Amino acid sequence: MTDVAQVGMRFATEVPRMDRRPIPATHYTDPQRFEQEREKIFKRAWLRLCRADELPEPGDFRTVEVPTWGASVVVTRAHDRRIHAFLNICQHRGMSITTCERGRAEAFMCGFHGWVYGLDGSLRTVPGEQYFEQLDHAALRAPALAVDQWCGFVFVNWQPQPQQGLREYLGEMGAFIEQHPFDLYERTGSYRVRVKANWKIVAEAFLEGYHVGTVHRRSIPDSMNSPENPLGLPNSCRVYGDHRTMAVWANPEHQPTATEALMWKHAFALQPGQVEAMPGANPDRVPTWWFDTNMFFPYFTVFIGMGWYLTYDLWPVSVDEAIWETHTYGMRARTASQRLGADYMKVMLRDALMEDFSTCEHVQRNLETGRLPHITLSEDMEYFVRHLHWTVDQWLAR
Ligand code: FES
Repeated sequence: MTDVAQVGMRFATEVPRMDRRPIPATHYTDPQRFEQEREKIFKRAWLRLCRADELPEPGDFRTVEVPTWGASVVVTRAHDRRIHAFLNICQHRGMSITTCERGRAEAFMCGFHGWVYGLDGSLRTVPGEQYFEQLDHAALRAPALAVDQWCGFVFVNWQPQPQQGLREYLGEMGAFIEQHPFDLYERTGSYRVRVKANWKIVAEAFLEGYHVGTVHRRSIPDSMNSPENPLGLPNSCRVYGDHRTMAVWANPEHQPTATEALMWKHAFALQPGQVEAMPGANPDRVPTWWFDTNMFFPYFTVFIGMGWYLTYDLWPVSVDEAIWETHTYGMRARTASQRLGADYMKVMLRDALMEDFSTCEHVQRNLETGRLPHITLSEDMEYFVRHLHWTVDQWLAR
């Protein structure tokens, strides 16, 4: 491990040399830059869309709105059990192929003139086809997206032939996390938030622990900081190319509240300081571990703790607006108290998230005034914030 500065951040991987100049406010406010990000990042990167177990049987489908693309995506499980993804655009005159959010179907009939598409997006039948001049069915299939799975998560790529396959894209960080037994969990809750702020401001809310002692002083006053570690520095940080992970430190002196103690006795409910080694998590194998924050560029994030995990997705809408979603997962509950523990975790998370989002819209508005030309970053406590901008720059330069 290398200490990057005296303050004590520990990096367990090599870290790239980055331009240390201040980050311009225009990175958050320039509409032209945002359009470049949309085209060069969000239409080239692999993006997480849903979980494969949401489509257990052949014919199951979901439609997912992707605001960053301004598009709806149909994800299906075909009879050969393969998962397909295509844009929800009828190739006749542009109606949506389906207006259902989810269901089970043998095929999709466009509600405008009745063209029928298969579960793989191929054009099957056209009413009155003899009245068209030679329709090329192959060319008229619904626009395909690249689709693949990792740990039961379904990823899509706007490019039908991406430059990298999904596993290559997720790289070494993906290979480590892949050891985790995600199939032992069930979804326990979801939140969706529309934030009037640039997507990077939202992403940065989860890229450093420096804010925890201030922003979360009410909800988690001493869970990840203490007199010994007042700045909430993590156990370790790792950079894997464009992706990054932080192993969050747990304060061993934290005294649980009466409710926490009850929840922790009967259920996995966000308790810190668990010692056991878990595959694909706690890479330092230390007892002062609470959870890992694994962020795949540009954003898909998996937090893994003891007996729980949660995911974050972030969909930029415009230069100053983004939609953010989380799904929480717990070990399958066998008892009522375990179920209660999952609900407790959901509520605790809600409170912490509301605190995280409380800063974003202020930051966006104030950056737009033009009176803060650049932001100032700590060299190491906010290293990951700089790394996000640096990675964005790399993608925009390609
Ligand atoms: Fe779909 Fe006409 S727009 S059948």
